[in-house]
Amino acid sequence: MELVETVEELNNSLRKHRNSIIGLVPTMGYLHEGHLSLVKKAKKECDFIVMSIFVNPLQFGPNEDLDRYPRDLERDFDLARQAGVNVLYHPNVKEMYPSEPLITTKVSNKISNVLCGKYRESHFDGVTTVVAKLFNQTKPDRAYFGQKDAQQLAIITQMVKDLSFQVTVVPCETVREEDGLALSSRNVYLSEEEREQAPILSQILNEVRDGLIPRKWNTPDEINQYVRERISTKPLAKLQYIETLEYPNLQATTSLYDKQIIVALAAYFGKTRLIDNILFSAEGESHVPNDDEIQIASSHRNRS
Ligand code: PAF
Repeated sequence: MELVETVEELNNSLRKHRNSIIGLVPTMGYLHEGHLSLVKKAKKECDFIVMSIFVNPLQFGPNEDLDRYPRDLERDFDLARQAGVNVLYHPNVKEMYPSEPLITTKVSNKISNVLCGKYRESHFDGVTTVVAKLFNQTKPDRAYFGQKDAQQLAIITQMVKDLSFQVTVVPCETVREEDGLALSSRNVYLSEEEREQAPILSQILNEVRDGLIPRKWNTPDEINQYVRERISTKPLAKLQYIETLEYPNLQATTSLYDKQIIVALAAYFGKTRLIDNILFSAEGESHVPNDDEIQIASSHRNRS
Protein backbone atom coordinates (compact mmCIF):
# COMPACT_ATOMS: atom_id res chain seq x y z
CA MET A 1 0.00 0.00 0.00
CA GLU A 2 1.19 3.45 -0.90
CA LEU A 3 0.77 6.47 1.37
CA VAL A 4 0.26 9.71 -0.56
CA GLU A 5 -0.17 13.18 0.86
CA THR A 6 -0.71 15.47 -2.10
CA VAL A 7 -3.11 15.67 -5.03
CA GLU A 8 -0.14 15.36 -7.37
CA GLU A 9 1.08 12.14 -5.72
CA LEU A 10 -2.46 10.79 -5.78
CA ASN A 11 -2.72 11.52 -9.50
CA ASN A 12 0.64 9.87 -10.18
CA SER A 13 -0.44 6.70 -8.37
CA LEU A 14 -3.81 6.58 -10.09
CA ARG A 15 -2.50 7.30 -13.60
CA LYS A 16 -1.60 3.65 -14.27
CA HIS A 17 -4.97 2.44 -12.98
CA ARG A 18 -7.35 4.62 -14.96
CA ASN A 19 -8.59 1.60 -16.92
CA SER A 20 -9.46 -0.23 -13.71
CA ILE A 21 -12.54 0.22 -11.55
CA ILE A 22 -11.48 2.64 -8.83
CA GLY A 23 -13.25 2.56 -5.48
CA LEU A 24 -13.03 5.44 -2.98
CA VAL A 25 -13.58 5.00 0.76
CA PRO A 26 -13.64 8.51 2.29
CA THR A 27 -12.96 8.59 6.06
CA MET A 28 -11.75 10.84 8.82
CA GLY A 29 -9.50 8.07 10.12
CA TYR A 30 -9.30 6.40 13.52
CA LEU A 31 -10.46 3.34 11.63
CA HIS A 32 -12.77 0.71 13.03
CA GLU A 33 -14.57 -2.35 11.65
CA GLY A 34 -17.22 -0.09 10.12
CA HIS A 35 -14.65 1.57 7.85
CA LEU A 36 -13.06 -1.80 7.12
CA SER A 37 -16.43 -3.21 6.05
CA LEU A 38 -16.61 -0.41 3.46
CA VAL A 39 -13.21 -1.51 2.16
CA LYS A 40 -14.35 -5.14 2.10
CA LYS A 41 -17.37 -4.26 -0.01
CA ALA A 42 -15.26 -2.01 -2.25
CA LYS A 43 -12.77 -4.83 -2.83
CA LYS A 44 -15.54 -7.10 -4.10
CA GLU A 45 -16.67 -4.49 -6.62
CA CYS A 46 -13.50 -2.60 -7.62
CA ASP A 47 -9.96 -3.33 -8.85
CA PHE A 48 -8.18 -0.53 -7.03
CA ILE A 49 -9.07 0.99 -3.66
CA VAL A 50 -8.25 4.51 -2.48
CA MET A 51 -8.98 5.33 1.13
CA SER A 52 -8.84 8.97 2.19
CA ILE A 53 -8.15 10.06 5.74
CA PHE A 54 -8.86 13.71 6.32
CA VAL A 55 -10.40 15.37 9.37
CA ASN A 56 -12.28 18.07 7.55
CA PRO A 57 -12.38 21.38 9.48
CA LEU A 58 -15.21 22.67 7.27
CA GLN A 59 -17.71 20.19 8.70
CA PHE A 60 -17.07 20.97 12.40
CA GLY A 61 -18.92 23.74 14.20
CA PRO A 62 -17.05 26.17 16.51
CA ASN A 63 -18.02 24.22 19.65
CA GLU A 64 -17.49 20.77 18.20
CA ASP A 65 -14.68 18.24 18.63
CA LEU A 66 -12.34 19.14 15.73
CA ASP A 67 -9.27 19.49 17.96
CA ARG A 68 -9.88 16.42 20.06
CA TYR A 69 -11.15 14.22 17.19
CA PRO A 70 -9.14 10.97 17.61
CA ARG A 71 -6.23 10.51 15.22
CA ASP A 72 -3.71 7.65 14.86
CA LEU A 73 -2.19 7.47 11.39
CA GLU A 74 0.23 4.64 12.19
CA ARG A 75 -2.54 2.36 13.38
CA ASP A 76 -4.78 3.42 10.48
CA PHE A 77 -1.97 2.69 8.02
CA ASP A 78 -1.65 -0.90 9.28
CA LEU A 79 -5.40 -1.51 9.33
CA ALA A 80 -5.87 -0.07 5.83
CA ARG A 81 -2.98 -2.13 4.45
CA GLN A 82 -4.28 -5.34 6.03
CA ALA A 83 -7.75 -4.63 4.63
CA GLY A 84 -6.29 -4.40 1.11
CA VAL A 85 -6.39 -0.66 0.45
CA ASN A 86 -4.05 0.21 -2.45
CA VAL A 87 -3.54 3.91 -1.83
CA LEU A 88 -3.99 5.72 1.46
CA TYR A 89 -4.55 9.40 0.71
CA HIS A 90 -3.77 11.59 3.73
CA PRO A 91 -3.65 15.26 2.77
CA ASN A 92 -3.13 17.97 5.37
CA VAL A 93 -5.42 20.97 5.68
CA LYS A 94 -3.13 23.16 3.54
CA GLU A 95 -3.18 20.60 0.74
CA MET A 96 -6.98 20.27 0.82
CA TYR A 97 -7.63 24.00 1.31
CA PRO A 98 -4.54 25.88 0.03
CA SER A 99 -6.38 29.14 0.77
CA GLU A 100 -9.67 29.98 2.41
CA PRO A 101 -12.27 28.44 0.06
CA LEU A 102 -14.46 31.13 -1.47
CA ILE A 103 -16.63 28.67 -3.34
CA THR A 104 -18.29 25.82 -1.50
CA THR A 105 -21.36 23.62 -1.95
CA LYS A 106 -24.64 24.58 -0.30
CA VAL A 107 -27.18 21.94 0.77
CA SER A 108 -30.82 23.02 0.59
CA ASN A 109 -32.63 23.49 3.91
CA LYS A 110 -35.17 21.03 2.60
CA ILE A 111 -32.76 18.21 3.41
CA SER A 112 -30.34 19.87 5.82
CA ASN A 113 -32.83 21.35 8.28
CA VAL A 114 -33.78 17.99 9.76
CA LEU A 115 -32.00 15.33 11.86
CA CYS A 116 -28.30 16.15 12.47
CA GLY A 117 -28.35 19.11 10.08
CA LYS A 118 -30.79 20.96 12.31
CA TYR A 119 -28.25 20.95 15.15
CA ARG A 120 -25.01 21.18 13.16
CA GLU A 121 -25.23 24.40 11.18
CA SER A 122 -23.45 24.19 7.82
CA HIS A 123 -22.11 20.71 8.68
CA PHE A 124 -23.44 19.23 5.45
CA ASP A 125 -22.11 22.16 3.39
CA GLY A 126 -18.70 21.19 4.79
CA VAL A 127 -19.23 17.48 4.13
CA THR A 128 -20.39 17.97 0.55
CA THR A 129 -17.59 20.44 -0.19
CA VAL A 130 -14.88 18.02 0.89
CA VAL A 131 -16.56 15.01 -0.72
CA ALA A 132 -16.89 16.95 -3.99
CA LYS A 133 -13.16 17.75 -3.76
CA LEU A 134 -12.33 14.09 -3.02
CA PHE A 135 -14.43 13.02 -6.01
CA ASN A 136 -12.62 15.53 -8.24
CA GLN A 137 -9.19 14.58 -6.91
CA THR A 138 -9.73 10.80 -7.14
CA LYS A 139 -12.32 10.45 -9.93
CA PRO A 140 -13.53 7.14 -8.54
CA ASP A 141 -16.03 4.87 -10.28
CA ARG A 142 -17.63 3.94 -6.98
CA ALA A 143 -17.62 5.56 -3.53
CA TYR A 144 -18.60 3.84 -0.28
CA PHE A 145 -20.55 5.43 2.59
CA GLY A 146 -22.03 3.93 5.74
CA GLN A 147 -25.75 3.85 6.41
CA LYS A 148 -25.07 4.92 9.99
CA ASP A 149 -24.65 8.47 8.68
CA ALA A 150 -27.94 8.16 6.84
CA GLN A 151 -28.48 11.89 6.28
CA GLN A 152 -24.94 12.23 4.91
CA LEU A 153 -25.54 9.28 2.58
CA ALA A 154 -28.84 10.75 1.32
CA ILE A 155 -27.28 14.20 0.79
CA ILE A 156 -24.21 12.88 -1.03
CA THR A 157 -26.41 10.72 -3.25
CA GLN A 158 -28.43 13.86 -4.06
CA MET A 159 -25.25 15.87 -4.70
CA VAL A 160 -24.02 13.28 -7.18
CA LYS A 161 -27.34 13.60 -9.04
CA ASP A 162 -27.62 17.38 -8.83
CA LEU A 163 -23.99 18.15 -9.75
CA SER A 164 -23.59 15.30 -12.28
CA PHE A 165 -20.65 13.55 -10.64
CA GLN A 166 -19.78 10.42 -12.58
CA VAL A 167 -19.63 8.14 -9.57
CA THR A 168 -21.86 5.46 -8.10
CA VAL A 169 -22.56 5.98 -4.41
CA VAL A 170 -22.68 2.62 -2.63
CA PRO A 171 -24.55 2.46 0.70
CA CYS A 172 -23.10 0.08 3.29
CA GLU A 173 -24.80 -1.46 6.29
CA THR A 174 -24.02 -0.19 9.80
CA VAL A 175 -21.56 -2.38 11.67
CA ARG A 176 -22.30 -2.92 15.36
CA GLU A 177 -20.64 -4.17 18.52
CA GLU A 178 -22.07 -7.42 19.87
CA ASP A 179 -24.36 -5.48 22.20
CA GLY A 180 -25.75 -3.47 19.29
CA LEU A 181 -23.83 -0.19 19.69
CA ALA A 182 -23.14 1.23 16.22
CA LEU A 183 -19.39 1.53 15.61
CA SER A 184 -18.09 5.09 15.59
CA SER A 185 -14.69 6.67 16.05
CA ARG A 186 -16.33 8.75 18.79
CA ASN A 187 -17.15 5.68 20.92
CA VAL A 188 -13.66 5.99 22.45
CA TYR A 189 -14.82 9.14 24.25
CA LEU A 190 -17.36 7.15 26.33
CA SER A 191 -16.65 6.49 30.00
CA GLU A 192 -17.19 2.95 31.25
CA GLU A 193 -20.64 3.79 32.60
CA GLU A 194 -21.67 5.66 29.45
CA ARG A 195 -20.46 2.76 27.31
CA GLU A 196 -22.66 0.42 29.37
CA GLN A 197 -25.75 2.52 28.73
CA ALA A 198 -25.05 3.44 25.08
CA PRO A 199 -26.52 0.22 23.54
CA ILE A 200 -29.96 1.48 24.64
CA LEU A 201 -30.04 3.40 21.34
CA SER A 202 -29.97 0.35 19.10
CA GLN A 203 -32.18 -1.60 21.52
CA ILE A 204 -34.92 1.02 21.26
CA LEU A 205 -34.59 1.19 17.47
CA ASN A 206 -34.94 -2.59 17.33
CA GLU A 207 -38.07 -2.34 19.45
CA VAL A 208 -39.42 0.24 17.00
CA ARG A 209 -38.68 -2.13 14.11
CA ASP A 210 -40.36 -4.99 15.98
CA GLY A 211 -43.45 -2.78 16.22
CA LEU A 212 -43.32 -1.71 12.58
CA ILE A 213 -43.35 -5.25 11.22
CA PRO A 214 -46.85 -6.09 12.63
CA ARG A 215 -47.90 -2.44 11.95
CA LYS A 216 -48.32 -1.65 15.62
CA TRP A 217 -47.45 2.05 15.17
CA ASN A 218 -50.01 4.34 13.57
CA THR A 219 -48.05 7.59 13.19
CA PRO A 220 -44.46 8.88 13.29
CA ASP A 221 -45.40 10.78 16.48
CA GLU A 222 -46.30 7.54 18.21
CA ILE A 223 -42.85 6.16 17.41
CA ASN A 224 -41.07 9.34 18.45
CA GLN A 225 -42.97 9.48 21.72
CA TYR A 226 -42.14 5.84 22.47
CA VAL A 227 -38.44 6.50 21.87
CA ARG A 228 -38.49 9.59 24.13
CA GLU A 229 -40.07 7.63 26.96
CA ARG A 230 -37.76 4.65 26.61
CA ILE A 231 -34.60 6.73 26.49
CA SER A 232 -35.60 8.72 29.57
CA THR A 233 -35.11 5.49 31.58
CA LYS A 234 -31.33 5.81 31.08
CA PRO A 235 -30.02 8.59 33.32
CA LEU A 236 -26.82 9.15 31.30
CA ALA A 237 -28.58 9.49 27.93
CA LYS A 238 -29.80 12.92 26.80
CA LEU A 239 -31.83 12.68 23.63
CA GLN A 240 -31.05 15.45 21.13
CA TYR A 241 -33.59 14.43 18.51
CA ILE A 242 -35.75 11.59 17.34
CA GLU A 243 -37.36 11.88 13.93
CA THR A 244 -39.31 9.53 11.72
CA LEU A 245 -39.16 10.70 8.09
CA GLU A 246 -39.47 9.45 4.55
CA TYR A 247 -36.09 8.21 3.24
CA PRO A 248 -34.03 9.13 1.28
CA ASN A 249 -35.83 12.44 0.63
CA LEU A 250 -35.93 13.25 4.38
CA GLN A 251 -39.43 14.73 4.17
CA ALA A 252 -42.04 14.60 6.92
CA THR A 253 -44.55 11.81 6.45
CA THR A 254 -47.84 10.90 8.05
CA SER A 255 -47.87 7.32 6.81
CA LEU A 256 -45.41 4.63 7.86
CA TYR A 257 -46.19 1.76 5.57
CA ASP A 258 -46.32 2.94 1.97
CA LYS A 259 -42.80 4.35 1.59
CA GLN A 260 -39.36 3.70 2.93
CA ILE A 261 -38.95 5.50 6.25
CA ILE A 262 -36.06 6.28 8.53
CA VAL A 263 -36.27 6.39 12.30
CA ALA A 264 -33.16 8.32 13.37
CA LEU A 265 -31.91 9.72 16.63
CA ALA A 266 -28.98 11.48 18.26
CA ALA A 267 -28.23 11.35 21.98
CA TYR A 268 -25.54 12.70 24.24
CA PHE A 269 -23.77 10.51 26.76
CA GLY A 270 -21.83 13.12 28.70
CA LYS A 271 -20.12 15.21 26.02
CA THR A 272 -20.24 12.40 23.46
CA ARG A 273 -22.88 12.63 20.79
CA LEU A 274 -23.96 9.32 19.26
CA ILE A 275 -26.30 8.74 16.33
CA ASP A 276 -28.14 5.71 15.09
CA ASN A 277 -31.05 4.87 12.78
CA ILE A 278 -33.08 2.16 11.15
CA LEU A 279 -34.59 2.10 7.71
CA PHE A 280 -37.88 0.37 7.20
CA SER A 281 -40.15 -0.27 4.29
CA ALA A 282 -43.21 -2.42 4.61
CA GLU A 283 -42.23 -4.05 1.30
CA GLY A 284 -39.71 -5.99 3.36
CA GLU A 285 -36.56 -3.93 2.76
CA SER A 286 -36.08 -2.93 6.39
CA HIS A 287 -32.35 -2.39 6.04
CA VAL A 288 -29.48 -2.55 3.58
CA PRO A 289 -28.99 -6.32 3.18
CA ASN A 290 -25.57 -7.64 4.12
CA ASP A 291 -23.51 -9.80 1.78
CA ASP A 292 -24.59 -13.04 3.46
CA GLU A 293 -28.23 -12.11 3.08
CA ILE A 294 -27.65 -11.22 -0.57
CA GLN A 295 -26.04 -14.62 -1.09
CA ILE A 296 -28.88 -16.40 0.75
CA ALA A 297 -31.46 -14.48 -1.29
CA SER A 298 -29.75 -15.32 -4.58
CA SER A 299 -29.36 -19.00 -3.66
CA HIS A 300 -33.12 -19.05 -2.86
CA ARG A 301 -33.81 -17.47 -6.24
CA ASN A 302 -31.61 -20.01 -8.00
CA ARG A 303 -33.42 -22.87 -6.30
CA SER A 304 -36.93 -21.65 -7.11
O1 PAF B 1 -18.29 10.21 7.26
C1 PAF B 1 -17.18 10.78 7.38
O2 PAF B 1 -16.25 10.24 7.96
C2 PAF B 1 -16.99 12.18 6.79
O3 PAF B 1 -18.14 12.95 6.94
C3 PAF B 1 -16.52 12.15 5.33
C4 PAF B 1 -17.56 11.52 4.40
C5 PAF B 1 -15.21 11.40 5.22
C6 PAF B 1 -16.29 13.59 4.84
O4 PAF B 1 -15.36 14.26 5.63
